[in-house]
Amino acid sequence: MNLLVPLAFLCLATVAPWRVCSQQQRLLVNMTLVPNARASGALCLDGSLPAYHLHRGFGAGVDNWLLQFEGGGWCNDLTSCFERAKTRRGSTNFMNKLEVFSGILTNNATLNPDFYNWNRVKLRYCDGASFTGDAVFTNKTTTLHFKGQKIWEAIIHDLLPQGLGKARKALLSGCSAGGLATFHHCDDFAKYLPTNATVKCLSDAGFFLDERDISMNHTMRFFVKSLVQLQGIEQNLNRNCTKSLYFPDLCFFPQYALSYISTPYFILNSAYDVYQFHNILVPSSADKQGLWNHCKMNPAACTSDQINTLQGFRLDMLGALRPFYLSSRRGGMFINSCFAHCQSELTETWFGDDSPRIKNKTIAEAVGDWYFSRNICKEIDCAYPCDATCHNLIPLRSGQLDD
Ligand SMILES: *[C@@H]1O[C@H](CO)[C@@H](O)[C@H](O)[C@H]1NC(C)=O
Ligand SMILES: *[C@@H]1O[C@H](CO)[C@@H](O)[C@H](O)[C@H]1NC(C)=O
Ligand SMILES: *[C@@H]1O[C@H](CO)[C@@H](O)[C@H](O)[C@H]1NC(C)=O
Ligand SMILES: *[C@@H]1O[C@H](CO)[C@@H](O)[C@H](O)[C@H]1NC(C)=O
Ligand SMILES: *[C@@H]1O[C@H](CO)[C@@H](O)[C@H](O)[C@H]1NC(C)=O
Ligand SMILES: *[C@@H]1O[C@H](CO)[C@@H](O)[C@H](O)[C@H]1NC(C)=O
Ligand SMILES: *[C@@H]1O[C@H](CO)[C@@H](O)[C@H](O)[C@H]1NC(C)=O
Repeated sequence: MNLLVPLAFLCLATVAPWRVCSQQQRLLVNMTLVPNARASGALCLDGSLPAYHLHRGFGAGVDNWLLQFEGGGWCNDLTSCFERAKTRRGSTNFMNKLEVFSGILTNNATLNPDFYNWNRVKLRYCDGASFTGDAVFTNKTTTLHFKGQKIWEAIIHDLLPQGLGKARKALLSGCSAGGLATFHHCDDFAKYLPTNATVKCLSDAGFFLDERDISMNHTMRFFVKSLVQLQGIEQNLNRNCTKSLYFPDLCFFPQYALSYISTPYFILNSAYDVYQFHNILVPSSADKQGLWNHCKMNPAACTSDQINTLQGFRLDMLGALRPFYLSSRRGGMFINSCFAHCQSELTETWFGDDSPRIKNKTIAEAVGDWYFSRNICKEIDCAYPCDATCHNLIPLRSGQLDD
């Protein structure tokens, strides 16, 4: 099964013709392949070379580095990984070579006041396991490379001599499956950088919960266990976490790994994350009659029982985050109540006039205040439907965990 993560926020003229999507020039950044990756077997699912997109910093940001993991679901069995290997999710051969840099990646100071002049890198996702696997499958006709961990290492080693190794400030970010990747590489990232550098990590929509679905089935837990097994992930999870749990593979879930991470973290997530709502809480396998179809497309169409279920999900997420909220002095949070998935990658949700806000603060301001220690920022929104700033969002289509 492939868990798919479609783009949640599209500023589509057809959806919102009254909104002006982007007047300014879009920044397109060219792809760089990593030829040295082949030596360490750090290949995409189909055996193609991994890649990133780098836009150079300038001025005061010339020694600062922002790395962003691309997201896009996971594949947890041979069939779905085999299918994925033939798409842009599993092969750089099928990826767009020019990538739009928007939101936290844009170089426009008006739209991205704190990071616009940093070196900004997008790490392309082609392993299907949030950059954590290390295994190979071979039979007579097919080879599948489960090499996410090695891809991460190969890209880092490619970037270190280009200036990353002398970074003064650095931020490791990512959304969705890419947000999950930050949890597994944050401390590792810090170790590669100078000891006097400021290193922090940001997960956007990556706080996937170990939550039962509405039929009380552990759909997500089963999915993760098979993913960890197939792609040889367990050896790459945080040792202190795997030592502490009876089921070490559960350390793939951020809620178990988080307390073992020492690098400062910012957790950005909607408490009603649309992707988790559609695939973890109410997967189609748990709603065969389609009673949730209207509610999935439009929260205003949910019954009061369905809203209660969603409020329960929110409380479980806040519960899972509570130890972090209470104990992490250097941590930041922005847990809002928009039906969203990924809010740092598009200008419309990152730092626009009508972007989501908590206490009148946009996500860009919250993350910037936290990164530069201008202000403590641990914001938890009031429960749906009280937030009036949830614009620029369209519901995900009912997807699958594997996109
Ligand atoms: C930066 O964004 C602002 C606000 O959208 C826009 O007015 C300006 O033209 C943009 N600058 C560039 C160089 O694209
Ligand atoms: C992107 O990079 C490739 C390989 O270096 C080059 O052939 C191509 O012209 C570049 N495209 C643009 C638009 O810069
Ligand atoms: C090899 O594995 C792939 C993926 O599971 C499968 O589709 C194919 O039939 C297998 N080939 C052989 C010869 O077993
Ligand atoms: C870290 O130390 C190096 C070597 O002493 C120095 O060149 C660099 O400016 C320092 N970086 C920061 C952020 O202080
Ligand atoms: C529970 O979820 C697993 C994994 O998706 C699935 O194989 C199983 O059939 C489900 N069981 C029920 C009772 O829905
Ligand atoms: C595990 O915890 C010990 C003691 O706190 C620490 O020194 C070590 O770096 C940790 N290991 C990992 C992989 O985080
Ligand atoms: C919210 O912030 C904007 C600037 O981002 C400001 O213009 C506005 O007055 C603020 N509103 C309130 C109620 O403080």
